[in-house]
Amino acid sequence: MDSLEKQTKRDQWGSRTGFILAAMGSAVGLGNIWKFPYVAGANGGGAFLFLYILFVLLIGIPVMLAEFSIGRNTQRDVVHAFQKLAPKSPWVLAGILGVVATFFILSFYSVVAGWTLNYIAQYTVGGLGQAANTNYGEYFSQFISHPLMPIFWQTMFMILTVLFVYKGIKNGIEKLNKVLMPTLAVLIVGLAIYSLNLDGAMDGLKFLFQPDWSVLKDPSVYLAALGQAFFSLSLGLGALITYGSYLSKEEKLPSASLTIASLDTVFAIIAGLLIFPAVFTFNIEPGAGPGLVFITLPDIFGNFAYGQFVAITFFFLLAAAALSSAVSLLEVTVAFVIRQLKWTREKTAIFVGVLVTLVGIPSSLSLGIWSEIKLLGNLNIMDSIDYVASNIFLPLGGLLISMFVGWGWNKRDVLSEVNFQTNSLGTLWLISLRYITPIAIFCVLLYSLGII
Ligand code: PHE
Repeated sequence: MDSLEKQTKRDQWGSRTGFILAAMGSAVGLGNIWKFPYVAGANGGGAFLFLYILFVLLIGIPVMLAEFSIGRNTQRDVVHAFQKLAPKSPWVLAGILGVVATFFILSFYSVVAGWTLNYIAQYTVGGLGQAANTNYGEYFSQFISHPLMPIFWQTMFMILTVLFVYKGIKNGIEKLNKVLMPTLAVLIVGLAIYSLNLDGAMDGLKFLFQPDWSVLKDPSVYLAALGQAFFSLSLGLGALITYGSYLSKEEKLPSASLTIASLDTVFAIIAGLLIFPAVFTFNIEPGAGPGLVFITLPDIFGNFAYGQFVAITFFFLLAAAALSSAVSLLEVTVAFVIRQLKWTREKTAIFVGVLVTLVGIPSSLSLGIWSEIKLLGNLNIMDSIDYVASNIFLPLGGLLISMFVGWGWNKRDVLSEVNFQTNSLGTLWLISLRYITPIAIFCVLLYSLGII
């Protein structure tokens, strides 16, 4: 133990359940409820789902286990974890990528999350959903292009996020997730049951579960499925290294990873069960894109009995899921800064939170008054940041993490760290980290950079 560790005792999870709920909270977010349905919709439904599940099993769970092992073994933030395991080596790049990417992802994630808060407020007191024939498309585009309103809600969302990180691991993040995750489960199942009783339920189910294998000829479907799996499981950026670092040595990692990844996938599928029956009932194009939950669903809610109440419940679900993920994104940088600059958690949480909020403002403006500014090719500021962080840094981080645990770390130490019951499971895990994951990510990276 070095002197810094003696001075400042690191916080830890209060219980195994608390840790699992927090990691689930990180995983279940806008990625499941907002992104999964429209990405699945745009990529052919059933066949996409099949690929997605395959990638979660072959690649997602092994990488998750790799992240937890690095974190728990070192009890450090992402950057210092690599410095401890492989001093003075380039592996630390994986940690730096994680800090930079989570910081920038949070900057625009909080913009979208802010929209959900606005919808809750407008449905509750602002009169949204009360007039028949509201044009939700127009409402949405007017709202997101407004110079101030979205920034106000983005700031509100960031204040909430900072609050829980400020309070620490056990008293902040763990407590939040212990309340939110069971609530989310009840809400999403309730809303899905409601949706499954609509007339278009069968068509929605067919779309989601009946695969049209011909879409698999298109390489972009593989890219979308792998990218979505990494994003949804919170992989590649060290969020789960950070959460694993607050775990004591007694916990069993393989079963925790299996539980978290399965439940995250179940959440995404239930989000599909909620959205597609509604989409088919009202004859909407399932690949409607990012506007699906902000335009299409409000349109649909307008036709429901108790539509306003259903809408408030839905947007609360979305906001809560986003909050528990945002907290994990913020914690990556906060944990790093606390150790690097030896600041208190309180000061660090506020400082980093303010910085993320400021950096997010241009993203918000890029949907309105700054929409003419293009950074990468034809992409506006928000899409450019999303592209670099989610399509390049995230897979690159995942590649480095899996190569490090597969090749860079002593094999005997790794296997004893994860306490696999049988050798064959450990071997399978290493095969995934050494070969399957790097090759798959490498292909995806080349494809997304336009090289193949
Ligand atoms: N998994 C989160 C979601 O589905 C997003 C996230 C990505 C969180 C990476 C942390 C790290 O919305």
